[in-house]
Amino acid sequence: MTADKQSKLKQAAARQALELVQNDMILGLGTGSTTAFFVQYLGEALQEGRLHGIRGVPTSEATARHARELGIPLVTLNEVDFLHLAVDGADEVDPNLNMIKGLGKALLREKLVEVHARQLWIIVDESKLVSRLGEHVPLPVEIVPFAHEATVRWLNSLPGCRAELWLREDGAPWVTDNGHYLVLCHFAHGVDDPESLGKTLNAWPGVMEHGLFLNMAHSVIVAAETGVRVMRRTA
Ligand code: A5P
Repeated sequence: MTADKQSKLKQAAARQALELVQNDMILGLGTGSTTAFFVQYLGEALQEGRLHGIRGVPTSEATARHARELGIPLVTLNEVDFLHLAVDGADEVDPNLNMIKGLGKALLREKLVEVHARQLWIIVDESKLVSRLGEHVPLPVEIVPFAHEATVRWLNSLPGCRAELWLREDGAPWVTDNGHYLVLCHFAHGVDDPESLGKTLNAWPGVMEHGLFLNMAHSVIVAAETGVRVMRRTA
């Protein structure tokens, strides 16, 4: 798929998600190129008076900047009891609507914000659909900088995992909005048991959060060349 075609599909998914938004909603605003279209359309709808009373909770500094530029009123998670709806992209989505997220480097805030949403809607183009998580992309894991080499070593000891610190082009580690490092965990044949891997990662002291988003998505809007469809959680 060409980049231009993929961008059109991302726009189509984002446009469809805007239909879910109603006046006076508190919205979780995800991070990434697909969600950036959603934020743009939301800003336009507010500017044109098609929507009003919206408050957004951004999941990254980048999304916060973008939303501010568009005049979308923002609040912090501390100021609200819940979010009516959160909209975000994903790096991979499996048939159970479980996901890998975080390749936009914002997984911790995304998970923290989205767990407070009554509904999390995911917007993707069809290239993100996989039969098994980890099939196409590595799993990002956010770790504390202290003793990071020891944490990377531990991640490498997990069955089937090849872990590497995620470096910028200049060779320095990426630093997240939270001041942490990121590790990319490659699984040659995908992740065998996402539930169990998630629990193992959560229990390790140097790990702050991981990009397995399990049982969180309410629905996934998938834009394909044949049209836009919605995958709904069955259980
Ligand atoms: C951000 O950290 C990620 O979880 C994004 O949601 C994900 O990387 C999707 O990004 P794109 O919409 O740019 O593919």
